[in-house]
Amino acid sequence: MSESSFEASLKKSNDVWADIDVNPNKYRMLTGDRPTGHLHIGHYFGSLKNRVELQNKGVNTMILIADYQVITDRDNTEHIEDYVYNMLADYMACGVDPKKTPIFCHSAVAALNQLMLPFLSLVSEAELLRNPTVKTEQAASGHELTGLLLTYPVHQACDILFCKANIVPVGKDQLPHIEQTRQIARRFNKRYKKVFREPVGLLSDAIEVPGLDGRKMSKSYGNAISLAMTEDETAKLIRKSQTDSDRNITYDPENRPGVSALLTTASLCSGKSQEDIAAEIGDGGSGQLKAYVTESVNNFLKDIRVKRETYLSDKAQLKSILNEGNKFANHIAEKTLEEVKSAMKMNY
Ligand code: TRP
Repeated sequence: MSESSFEASLKKSNDVWADIDVNPNKYRMLTGDRPTGHLHIGHYFGSLKNRVELQNKGVNTMILIADYQVITDRDNTEHIEDYVYNMLADYMACGVDPKKTPIFCHSAVAALNQLMLPFLSLVSEAELLRNPTVKTEQAASGHELTGLLLTYPVHQACDILFCKANIVPVGKDQLPHIEQTRQIARRFNKRYKKVFREPVGLLSDAIEVPGLDGRKMSKSYGNAISLAMTEDETAKLIRKSQTDSDRNITYDPENRPGVSALLTTASLCSGKSQEDIAAEIGDGGSGQLKAYVTESVNNFLKDIRVKRETYLSDKAQLKSILNEGNKFANHIAEKTLEEVKSAMKMNY
């Protein structure tokens, strides 16, 4: 994405942020996650916290568990049911209230998926092939470019447009998908009839949470503290993390990525600054630093972990919450599909 279009996206995002406090009701937020594993504190600080805030400000919020997006670059769905239920429990443990924020999944909302057909006719092969995020994801997965991986940004446009969401909290990497969605909305409206509005990608200033090794936190790097871990597993993972031999603890992400990532983790969980924590530990070395981080993470996650276990122990309740979310999404999707068919003169 070019610098100028990033600037334009940032401006749109900032304008919306300023308006949300005044007119929360003007907005519908849709966002989602692929159920490819357990959520970790990178998800929490990078997006979950933000969604809960929007929900509590009175924005209309919906969350999608993007199950069909899992098979864009993987060849099986072996653990998907477990991941879906864990994700649901994690959301709720973090403050998502399914009464305010319906939670649903792709595979349960047929009319959402049907939008894919008209939408695919609105994009060119060249546009699909140039999406930088798809290219990066393909390279990272080592998987061949499947038809679904190539076209999933269009499917993501279905996710956003079926419920006429106008704000989509995203990281920078998802901006090309938002641009594609805006284009599809524009083209559909122009070719047939005005049905859709153009969504804005809502960028947050939440920092990207570093994993325990200083790289981006990701399950596949083995550097992620998941919400589901026990206190002991958390301690073990933090103990294993790479630091350095300088006993004086300082915050210096450039030269001391391991030490600094640990300080940032403790800072997010405790609310204190990295510098203050470093000063508190002083010459205590990485042993003390790791003990400090472990305690702040485990303290922070204590309630969340108890809640997620409680939710998980009642599968019937989780199932019914997902059913309710799916019902709500189906209702909206069917209405939108009717509008689409009618705009296309297909209402026979
Ligand atoms: N592609 C998003 C991710 O990997 C997940 C997602 C699916 C999504 N559908 C969406 C995000 C719709 C925002 C809106 O993080």
